[in-house]
Amino acid sequence: MKKKIKKEKIEQPALTDEQIEFLSAHNKKSNSHPTTDEPFDKSSYAKTRRYLKKHKFFAVVITVAILSVIATVVLLSVYTASIIANRPNSDDFTVKIGDKKYTAKYEDIMINDIMYIDATKIATLDEVIISGDATSRKFTLPSLQYVRFANNSNVAIVDGEYFDMGQKAIIKGNMCLVPIDFISKIFYSGLDIQIDTEENNITIGRVEIGSNGKNDPIYEPLGLTTEIGADVTNVAYEQFGFDSRLHATILDPKSDEYLLLVNHTNPLSSTYIPYDLVQLNCDTNPANPKSYYNLREIPAKALTLMMDAMKTSGIEGIQASSTYRSYKRQVEIVDSYINHKMSKYSLSYEDAKKEVLKTSALPGHSEHQTGLCVDFVQGTSSLTNDFENSTAFAWLKNNAHKFGFILRYPSTKEAITGYDYEPWHYRFVGRTVASRIYEANICFEEYLALSK
Ligand code: DAL
Ligand code: ZN
Repeated sequence: MKKKIKKEKIEQPALTDEQIEFLSAHNKKSNSHPTTDEPFDKSSYAKTRRYLKKHKFFAVVITVAILSVIATVVLLSVYTASIIANRPNSDDFTVKIGDKKYTAKYEDIMINDIMYIDATKIATLDEVIISGDATSRKFTLPSLQYVRFANNSNVAIVDGEYFDMGQKAIIKGNMCLVPIDFISKIFYSGLDIQIDTEENNITIGRVEIGSNGKNDPIYEPLGLTTEIGADVTNVAYEQFGFDSRLHATILDPKSDEYLLLVNHTNPLSSTYIPYDLVQLNCDTNPANPKSYYNLREIPAKALTLMMDAMKTSGIEGIQASSTYRSYKRQVEIVDSYINHKMSKYSLSYEDAKKEVLKTSALPGHSEHQTGLCVDFVQGTSSLTNDFENSTAFAWLKNNAHKFGFILRYPSTKEAITGYDYEPWHYRFVGRTVASRIYEANICFEEYLALSK
């Protein structure tokens, strides 16, 4: 009988898609009934599950509803958190510059207990041209006077004069944060700065000196002064047992001839020989007999003063190891270095040359041909990075600039100088420039670029 019924069903016409779907859903449902082997679970969770299974549509609706609630809660929390984060803090400052007002975050105004201001906002007061990048910002007034700040440096350059602000400038995105005290010192005219520390208000405006026929204000022109008496070169020398002011012409010659730039891209001609080379009269490295220990006259004298001061400070065994080198000598040196690398490391000529150029210069490209630089050794005859751990290096690091010398190839500036770190190589530029380079923590190439 059962068979017969089945047969009849098979003989029925083909089912439509909807019918097939309905039947398969129905079959699934019947399969999901608990079998007699399984204990029937009466818990409310199981009941809910059974109910939801039976009523699939409601299951979907409920799931979507729960997910929507969760998503709404998450979105609301994120929104609220962002409102709280951006809400003006009671410590934040209200800054009014001209007729524009903004809220400055407390941490962008008070930095190390010093009050700062964003110089780019002040620039909006007039047609001030802002140039520069993440490392330095230059503000040029309509009068063409300028002030330049370097990121993370105490040094500000006002119309070519270097000043120690006592605090670092900070370039942060578009902002150029500068101690407000320094801003008020350098603007001798045109700017009116009012600070209310009770209410955390800063108001900066221009000084009005009248109005035109149409009632528009006429402002006093913005003007910068370099008469603020804080040049970074004011250093005390008495500590070295002599009054080095007497030697000012030696330590601080006001001449560009000591700022000659020689590097991978700025060569000297093969015939260049400084006109005023003199023999050194300081301790020299006997293991380097081919160096005749010559420098130009003024750097030679400055070097003697500096080495005397090192002795006074208890630094022993410091020797000049390499000083002026002729073009011809540089040819010999570079050839021998390249040959050495080729045989020791089985390198091709080109690969060996590449290696050698990290620490040595091609003929014409060596600063030693200028007669303005010196390599030091202490307690050893060869130049190695161990010099960094010497007492001489510790002294030179903090004092060489006072005698007009700079560390020419700092470890942090390899990409700019084009040479590996050389703790032993010092270059004479004169005291003013050396102090500026030292204070601003820049290398010689950066200094020349900043001074343009
Ligand atoms: N060692 C430096 C880079 C020179 O030869 O001038
Ligand atoms: Zn050198």
